[in-house]
Amino acid sequence: MSNSQPDRAPTRLGILLSGRGSNFLAIADSIRTGRLPGVEIAVVIANVSDAPGLAAARAMGLPHAVLVSKGRRREDHDAGVAACLKQHNVDLVCLAGYMRLLSPGFVAQFPHRILNIHPSLLPAFPGLEAQEQAFAYGAKIAGCTVHFVDDELDHGPIVVQRAIPVLASDDAHSLAQRILAEEHQAYTEAIALVASGAYEIRGRRYVKRNS
Ligand code: GAR
Repeated sequence: MSNSQPDRAPTRLGILLSGRGSNFLAIADSIRTGRLPGVEIAVVIANVSDAPGLAAARAMGLPHAVLVSKGRRREDHDAGVAACLKQHNVDLVCLAGYMRLLSPGFVAQFPHRILNIHPSLLPAFPGLEAQEQAFAYGAKIAGCTVHFVDDELDHGPIVVQRAIPVLASDDAHSLAQRILAEEHQAYTEAIALVASGAYEIRGRRYVKRNS
């Protein structure tokens, strides 16, 4: 993995998304404003042709591709995505609202090189609509997690978590909005940590190295 030293090759991100793309836009903004030195977006890939995040990538002039997953075998679709990522020399894959499970064969091609963001404090509330799950459960603390992807859903080693209180005045929507604001900070923080290369993974634990 390259890092953020100016004399090193940049860390090239491959962003996978399915929808709105606000996490992608937050990452792009962090790069633009110098908060992710030595990091660049190599390609944005959407599995849904009308994903707003894809339109944003196009408008920004970033390399992008749409590989429609609907109706395709998971392994076949993932093989196309992996080929596209490799064609663009991607170092680190960032799932940014990519609402599709990855096949084990795909994950094995990018060991500890796939990050996911999830809108809960894992291991609480994996799966869909995590913010609504947390609200309905009556959780007092909510938040988001950026983690490496392994073969289990919302499961791999955790890089960054950010927590917020659930307010008495919250509804599920306001809670999701406040979690999203934390997500936008957390993803940049996690990418910077991983791109630095100054860490090791011990079992399931991401451990930062002092250097
Ligand atoms: C985000 O809240 C992200 O955490 C969530 O989808 C949303 C995508 O928003 N991902 C998951 O729930 C994955 N399990 P965005 O398209 O605006 O980034």
